[in-house]
Amino acid sequence: MARSTGDTTKKDEHPPADFVVVANRLPVDLEKLPDGGQRWKRSPGGLVTALEPMLRARDGAWVGWPGVPDVDVEPLVEDGLQLHPVRLSAQEVEDYYEGFSNGTLWPLYHDVVAPPAFHRHWWRAYRTVNERFAEATAAIAAENATVWIQDYQLQLMPAMLRELRPDLKIGFFLHIPFPPTELFMQLPWRARIVEGLLGADLIGFHTPGGVRNFRWLATHLAGAAPVRSRNEVTVGRRTVKMGAFPISIDSANLDELSRTDAVIKRAAQVREDLGNPKKVILGVDRLDYTKGINVRLRAFEELLEDGRLSVEDAVMVQLATPSRERVEHYQKMRNDIEQSVGRINGEYATVGHPPVHYLHQSLPRDELAAFFLAADVMLVTPLRDGMNLVAKEYVACRHDLGGALVLSEFAGAAAELTSALLVNPHDTDGVKESLYAALTMSPQEGRKRMRTLRKQVLTHDVDRWARSFLEALGLDPEPRT
Ligand code: ADP
Ligand code: G6P
Repeated sequence: MARSTGDTTKKDEHPPADFVVVANRLPVDLEKLPDGGQRWKRSPGGLVTALEPMLRARDGAWVGWPGVPDVDVEPLVEDGLQLHPVRLSAQEVEDYYEGFSNGTLWPLYHDVVAPPAFHRHWWRAYRTVNERFAEATAAIAAENATVWIQDYQLQLMPAMLRELRPDLKIGFFLHIPFPPTELFMQLPWRARIVEGLLGADLIGFHTPGGVRNFRWLATHLAGAAPVRSRNEVTVGRRTVKMGAFPISIDSANLDELSRTDAVIKRAAQVREDLGNPKKVILGVDRLDYTKGINVRLRAFEELLEDGRLSVEDAVMVQLATPSRERVEHYQKMRNDIEQSVGRINGEYATVGHPPVHYLHQSLPRDELAAFFLAADVMLVTPLRDGMNLVAKEYVACRHDLGGALVLSEFAGAAAELTSALLVNPHDTDGVKESLYAALTMSPQEGRKRMRTLRKQVLTHDVDRWARSFLEALGLDPEPRT
């Protein structure tokens, strides 16, 4: 996915923007090359996957961090997108990004599947950086502009921005789950976070459960008053709306990509490279402890152990994008996963035929589409996930109505993808049986399920998501041309 800086132009003028997206990361990361040069490459994760096509369709500006510490980058246009970089020092990356965002909020909001850490100096850095993002945005937004703030790294920013620029229309969307109130209450700075979010005109979550939890906290911690409608509160003289907006992908685009000759040929090649096993099982994730990668490895291992599968029957491919590599929980999880892969291959491989193919790499979109098309079973087993776009991407690629999706009940996507084989990732026996059922499902049954899944994913795309959010924010949601 690396792009050279060939199509990068420095912006000579920075006219104020009418529509601004703000996220911790820009859609591209700056990469320093060993020869002293630099290039931009696509940033990891679902937020960028979803928002990039949305912003392209609407011609707005994007404010975010370029992904490396201590660099000053001027505003620029990269591959047609207006980017406004925000500088973070190495210490801020450690305290605000790795610390408060990914050592405190991420595990707390994902059902504490790993223990969150609470440190006051992390919190102070979080506040400082949110303030910087608010100032950077206030400086580029046009009079009465719409600003759409994204995700858990920037929850204080709505109120900070409102203070600086009361003329703006401010939306906020949380891309990860909003936790049960009992868990949220552990946070020493819980009231500050709720007050920060209440600076927005509209706060979006993936699910109605997130709305309910937040509404309770807003009234109990921040003095907000509920209004008749279930999805509004008043804060002083302002009304703050809330809503559930399940995010999606650019389904048509992926559908089209997966129908190209190049992708279809590459999918056949992938199967051949894997030794033409009867079945290919696939996992695709950012390497994150919430994704339940070990759960699926364990289920596969037990099927081999029980003799219900052999390496000629099925191989598993796990593609894992490197992620947050300096955060402790991530280092431990990577070791655990790599140990499991080593153990399974040591035990069940024959020469040239390992049962698990593990790539700790980020692949280009067309390559990923080929893997989706090559896979008979897609295993998506997070212990908790806001949405999980990978599940939707798999479905969007299966124009042939082939393949079966095994999906965790604890992914937001499970609410929409009800024709998948839904599993409880904490129940190893259940995952094992669903994996076996997916591997042995009749083609008729598979096609029936995939047809229903595709109908949902192709009609509920990211453009529809963005339009419904912007409409609720009171904006004319420019139709896609
Ligand atoms: P998260 O946002 O937590 O990372 P999602 O499933 O919502 O989870 O989104 C992940 C995004 O990252 C998807 O667009 C997926 O295609 C992409 N991705 C995940 N793993 C890889 C990989 N190994 N190579 C390339 N892209 C990947
Ligand atoms: C998830 C989060 C995003 C984040 C992405 C990648 O999708 O919701 O906010 O950008 O993961 O994680 P990273 O820490 O590399 O930005």
